[in-house]
Amino acid sequence: MPARIDHLSASFEDRIADYQQRVDERLGQALPEAAKVPERLHDAMRYAVFNGGKRVRPLLVYATGECLGVAPGQLDSPAVAIELIHAFSLVHDDLPAMDDDDLRRGKPTVHIQFDEATAILAADALQPLAFSVLAGVAGASDSTRTALVRLVADAAGSVGMTGGQSIDLDAEGKMLSVAELEHMYSLKTGALIHAAIMSACLLCDDLDREHIKALDDFGRLVGVAFQIKDDILDVEGETHVIGKPSGSDEKLDKATYPSLFGLDASRERCDELLEQALARLDRFGDAAASLEWLARYIVARGQ
Ligand code: IPE
Ligand code: IPE
Ligand code: MG
Ligand code: MG
Ligand code: MG
Repeated sequence: MPARIDHLSASFEDRIADYQQRVDERLGQALPEAAKVPERLHDAMRYAVFNGGKRVRPLLVYATGECLGVAPGQLDSPAVAIELIHAFSLVHDDLPAMDDDDLRRGKPTVHIQFDEATAILAADALQPLAFSVLAGVAGASDSTRTALVRLVADAAGSVGMTGGQSIDLDAEGKMLSVAELEHMYSLKTGALIHAAIMSACLLCDDLDREHIKALDDFGRLVGVAFQIKDDILDVEGETHVIGKPSGSDEKLDKATYPSLFGLDASRERCDELLEQALARLDRFGDAAASLEWLARYIVARGQ
């Protein structure tokens, strides 16, 4: 549950717990029961998903839906699918071959709690499950369903999150320009965040080009800000608060905004991206209050 940020609009905050419960219920329905064979694999998949994530991507799906007047019932499939892809990405990200982290959301990472092979397989299985869920999206035409599948597939694949993770590994110990670093962030983290917002756009029937472009830009700006904030927390945050090992990036000599350009520049860039993102919401008026709350939360959060 995101921390209270009192100076922000309280209205969306009041609905967050409901949306989190909503997406958790649907994630629970989508995931095979842990008692189903192969039990260890299903247990690990559930462990990877139900261990205290903030559910920011589903919240972005529902908040964009509020902005565009798309009902939550239509948004459940993309919200669940994108969270499943996110969970898969975290399991792989923590493996010894990648960031080699033993703590996630305050609990042992999947390969520590189970074993490496089970972690790899659990992540492998979470990914196709996401597309199975997406195929069942409610009240959408075949062409919208196809567009949703392509949106999430591209955001997850080599031109999205997975590609960004590859660049991240290559960049360890290297000096990157701001543009190169932000390109990596826009892929490894931004792609799924952007897809969360665009999935709701695809489910809105009467959205003109300018409004789509504004949300497209908003998603890209907020996605990069999310990763810069994550990197700041890796430096400044305490392990028991962020729920993952603080200082992990430094240990691996990761190319991050704070390591390459310093904490002050990182904070300034986050604020700048937030400001630019919020400007894109102007044309939506009060309907965008929830997206505004989430964008501010992403930059202000303590975990
Ligand atoms: C962590 O994402 C990984 C990044 C993309 C930076 P979150 O901070 O959204 O992780 P959870 O799901 O809340 O644990
Ligand atoms: C990971 O970035 C982005 C993913 C695609 C999972 P990080 O490696 O910084 O994420 P954390 O800090 O481990 O959550
Ligand atoms: Mg990583
Ligand atoms: Mg990591
Ligand atoms: Mg990190």
